[in-house]
Amino acid sequence: MGELGLNKIMGALLATALVMMGLATLPSLVFGGGDHGGDHEEPATLSEKMCTQFHYCVEIAEAASAGAAEEVFDLGAALAGADISRGERTFAGQCATCHTIAAGGANGTGPNLHNTVGADKARVAGFNYSGALSNAEGGWTYENLDAWLKSPAGYMRGTSMSFAGIKRDADRANVIAYLAANTEGAPAFPAPMAAPAPAEGEAVPAEGEAVPADGEAVPAEGEAAPAQGQAAPAEEAPAEEVQPT
Ligand code: HEC
Repeated sequence: MGELGLNKIMGALLATALVMMGLATLPSLVFGGGDHGGDHEEPATLSEKMCTQFHYCVEIAEAASAGAAEEVFDLGAALAGADISRGERTFAGQCATCHTIAAGGANGTGPNLHNTVGADKARVAGFNYSGALSNAEGGWTYENLDAWLKSPAGYMRGTSMSFAGIKRDADRANVIAYLAANTEGAPAFPAPMAAPAPAEGEAVPAEGEAVPADGEAVPAEGEAAPAQGQAAPAEEAPAEEVQPT
């Protein structure tokens, strides 16, 4: 009986401990879990909150920094590292039903897309553009092509391009690089954002190393070489900052 009683007490203690551990993990399940690259506004602030209110710093901070790495889409860096042959495949799969891209290609459901980057919107003679696109101001830049291809109707209400959009940033960048490769004298890619300063002891990429290794990603026709910042390592979580309490 004595031993049985002790077992019961130990069991109760164990159960309590498990419940408490469960409670401690709850915030990360609610707030930290599945936080992969959605456009969350302020993960840093959230993780600070979690840290002070729930004393749950490390896990939350890791989740937040993982999200933060993807949070801001750096179009310049994505284009510098873009894979034109993948872009070509995506174009063939998703755009070519409506668009040709070769010089002098026929208009289909959509206009021919040769020489699009940097050109005026709605410039193709003989194509019956929507009112929205034919009245649109300005030309096609890398930035607005990115917005357009992410969501044509979101970028331009009333467009007749019935295409849902390309959700993945890298896929869009590849297609845009492919459009640029099919544009004579395309403008230089936008510069990548300034990379965060490398942590101490972290190797700084030397200038000569910045060229993409496979050479494939270098845009045709003597365009901007990728700036050196793009090779910076993505996952520099300032892990020392946070301590479990
Ligand atoms: C279902 C047919 C369809 C698909 C698929 C499609 N488009 Fe279009 N696209 C159009 C139409 C129609 C227009 C003209 C829109 C308007 O007038 O509002 C257009 C216009 C454009 C323009 C503007 C051209 C100009 O002259 O201003 C670009 C750039 C473009 N499409 C790129 C793409 C790319 C890249 C893809 C694949 C990722 C794609 N489109 C997929 C039908 C399509």
